[in-house]
Amino acid sequence: MSDYNFLMESKLSPRQFRVVNLLAQAASAEGLNFYLVGGAVRDLTYGQPIIRDLDFAVEGHPEKILRHLQTPRPAVRRRGEPGPVPSHEDEVWLEEARYDARWVSAEIYFSSGVRAEVSQCRREDYSQPGKPPEIVPATIFEDLRRRDFALNAMAVSLHPNSRGLLLDPTNGGGDIERKEIRALHSRSFIDDPSRIFRLVRLAQRLGFKPEEKTENWLRSALAQQLQNRLTPEQQGRELEAILREENPARTLKLLADRGWLTALDRNLARVRYERLQKIHALAQKFPEDDLFLLNFDALVAGLSTGQRVRLAKKIIRFPGMLKLALHLEREAKKLSKHLLSSRAASPSQVWKLLSPQPRILLLYLLAYASQSGVQNRIKHYLFKVPQIQARLPRLELQALGVNPGPKMEEILGRLFFDQLDGKIKTSQQLSKAMRSLAGIREPTPLPPTRPRAKPKKSAPATPANPSDQHETDQADARPTSRASQKPGRPPGTRPHAATPRRKKSPSAR
Ligand code: CTP
Repeated sequence: MSDYNFLMESKLSPRQFRVVNLLAQAASAEGLNFYLVGGAVRDLTYGQPIIRDLDFAVEGHPEKILRHLQTPRPAVRRRGEPGPVPSHEDEVWLEEARYDARWVSAEIYFSSGVRAEVSQCRREDYSQPGKPPEIVPATIFEDLRRRDFALNAMAVSLHPNSRGLLLDPTNGGGDIERKEIRALHSRSFIDDPSRIFRLVRLAQRLGFKPEEKTENWLRSALAQQLQNRLTPEQQGRELEAILREENPARTLKLLADRGWLTALDRNLARVRYERLQKIHALAQKFPEDDLFLLNFDALVAGLSTGQRVRLAKKIIRFPGMLKLALHLEREAKKLSKHLLSSRAASPSQVWKLLSPQPRILLLYLLAYASQSGVQNRIKHYLFKVPQIQARLPRLELQALGVNPGPKMEEILGRLFFDQLDGKIKTSQQLSKAMRSLAGIREPTPLPPTRPRAKPKKSAPATPANPSDQHETDQADARPTSRASQKPGRPPGTRPHAATPRRKKSPSAR
């Protein structure tokens, strides 16, 4: 049996793991039983390399957890609150939160880009197909049984006394081994026709097959044309899920071939697949990034402004994200102009201009900007700057007696900007500048010893950064994660080095 504590720590991204712990602590402080559920547990069990969003179930009220998170604390803050700006995975603030009283569920979007949904454990009593059910608070076991498929009906306890315990009352683990998708009861597609789409999408993504009975129930649902009976909310959720797929064009084409796409929205008869393919190509280079907004933008590219706005409101629930989605093109044009102006003459100026921008805007420019000046600056920011940040001599400074804190951050900031602008090129120059900024004298040279036989060729000075030696092919270089590039902070620095960095792993309602 798998050790889910180990799986969570090793398979979730550090940013996701941080959110799991943060929410688990909040639930524990409120005295609530709390579980990781749904797709994340399925993907941990199946060993998927990237786990997208996190769904949690709580025996009790999710609003309590939300309120706990919204109370100002050093590690969970809202933008604009006083205090040091969050600068790496350990620090995260609540970007946007949305409470849905109908489903007793809180959707939370963290500054690190992680999305989480915390729902009350519930039973769903359906009276009519396609109509929302009556919601009744329930235990985790009842909650798991109301879900769509057995492989999605597993939970991992996050209560401190039973953390890591897997609950799998319908043997979803067995289905994963058999690569099968099994609905939990005969009325599953009738109660919630959006499960027709969910099954097709999941089967395509994982390469799984519907189990025999499930296949029959599905046929019967299709014979009743239930795929056309989704509520607008279900349509929006399904479209959102498709746009979060690794290859949305593939899923959209499959649905279009079956004649089901317009059941999700009447305007989807004219999808621009080339644009979606372009974003899919970008996703290969940025596997940890959530390209949902770029996919949305590509999906609505051929539509009128009115149609775009309507679709955006249907699919995107967070107001900040909605605004960004609708203005990506305009913001990208503005930023391009600035990037080509005198405001961005030096690399450090470019850094100052780009670091407060939403990362998705930079990726948009990377996908679509035609000016090489814009492309080069964005590539430099995305690929080279993180290399410089990663090599800042934090440990060396500590070894010289500079303690973590504002002074160290100031020194690292200076070293960063000087490297960016080419004032520091080699590791010798870096070491010298570091000592001088820290107010530490150069070590006294050792007394001369008897000269040995000369080496044939003297080695050249080591550059401070291998990328200074020669231009790498930046497009082939691997980017670092979003979290290491959070905006508005001293570059690559963090306020306190007390918490050790964890090793990076590939990364409901
Ligand atoms: N769920 C359900 N019926 C639905 C929608 C969701 O039973 N119509 C349950 C499933 O248990 C699902 C969980 O809610 O696993 C979370 O839903 P969602 O986030 O939409 O999907 P995931 O299964 O997490 O899949 P993905 O990998 O696409 O995020």
